[in-house]
Amino acid sequence: MQPGNPLVGITAEEFERFRLGLEDFVEVENAAEGLGPAYNGTGCSACHNSPAIGGISPVSEIRAGRLDAEGNFEVLGGHTLFQLFSIPNHACQPIIPPEANVIAKRIPIPLFGAGLIEAIADETILGLEDPDDQDNNGISGRAARIIDVATGRERIGRFGWKAQHATLLAFGADAYRNEMGITNDLFMEEVAAGVDPETLELCDLRPDPEDGPEPGTGLRGIDNFEAFMKFLAPIEKEPLTEEAAWGEQLFSLLGCVACHVPVLYTAPTENRIFNEREVRLFSDLLLHDVGTGDGIAQEAALPNEIRTPSLWGLRLRRPLLHNGSAATPEQAIRAHKSEAEAARKGFEDLSEQERAALLAFLNAL
Ligand code: HEC
Ligand code: HEC
Repeated sequence: MQPGNPLVGITAEEFERFRLGLEDFVEVENAAEGLGPAYNGTGCSACHNSPAIGGISPVSEIRAGRLDAEGNFEVLGGHTLFQLFSIPNHACQPIIPPEANVIAKRIPIPLFGAGLIEAIADETILGLEDPDDQDNNGISGRAARIIDVATGRERIGRFGWKAQHATLLAFGADAYRNEMGITNDLFMEEVAAGVDPETLELCDLRPDPEDGPEPGTGLRGIDNFEAFMKFLAPIEKEPLTEEAAWGEQLFSLLGCVACHVPVLYTAPTENRIFNEREVRLFSDLLLHDVGTGDGIAQEAALPNEIRTPSLWGLRLRRPLLHNGSAATPEQAIRAHKSEAEAARKGFEDLSEQERAALLAFLNAL
């Protein structure tokens, strides 16, 4: 199946929601429609387009702040996100202040299969966490306990490099406001780090919330994004060659599976598309310190923590790691430290043939 298609077996009604969602996802917005004052892109698909709409792009965005000698993180100018652009009125361009000593880049995360990840129960993720390393394997994943903005309830985050959201509705609404400057029912206020409220008011051409129900469908932009991402199918892995099948065994033997858990199951639900389905994502959706942390504290995540990325669709995306610093899977593996020290050492100790087999496996995902 081609990347970008909806899940197999959705109803006609669900397909219509997917189609409307795709339409909004590729729409390009302008200032009169609410874009800005500060923004990173003019539409979702500006950054989520490769190898199909919903994927990634080489764009990276910037977060910044200050870490003191004790390791406490301080937010500067009210927000950690510093958007790349602003609408023509330079007063509202976020500028990284000189006090900042942490500047972090983040690349997009592909959305293929996101609806299946959303359908995994909080309890399933909680069941995997081992914050105090009880089993003494050097790995201490933590579930991200966050408050869901739509319901006000405590949930387990799973989306974003910091596992900062639990639902696609919340993430899409956050992105609409943060990435595009389009305020909505869940995120009512414009953000532009370091810009004072009066100035921001002068740059904001449209009353907030800028997103609302569309005539005809009654659906908001954020409802449409949710539907598109929910029904977007995962990228299927390629049939494994003999070499790749050997690599899969090594992936397990080296302990990569302790964090890149091959399969999780969705919760029981009425909708058979999401009911107790296998999700072959290769992630525990937990926060770990693998020595690559970006220095930014966000929601439940500490400065040194990153949520294990899913590895499905790995062959169709580059660069790798949260900041795009790895060009190849091998470089990404060699960057693993701290909790993943033993796994990386195991990789380094492989024979050349074994290493090739492991990489062949990753390149089939
Ligand atoms: C400027 C580029 C850019 C634009 C525009 C953008 N995104 Fe993203 N997207 C990103 C980046 C970067 C991340 C990772 C952010 C992070 O975790 O801090 C991301 C992550 C996500 C995720 C998390 C996926 C996962 O599995 O963890 C979702 C969902 C998402 N974006 C949806 C959207 C939607 C919906 C829109 C449009 C309203 C949008 N994005 C617009 C760059 C962008
Ligand atoms: C302790 C948990 C843990 C273990 C063990 C682990 N990883 Fe990871 N892996 C992570 C985290 C967390 C990241 C994200 C790091 C970042 O982006 O800064 C990651 C990133 C990756 C990536 C890049 C994915 C992407 O989308 O950017 C690859 C490839 C990868 N790991 C493969 C492996 C392999 C192969 C092994 C075994 C040799 C392994 N990992 C062991 C947690 C782990």
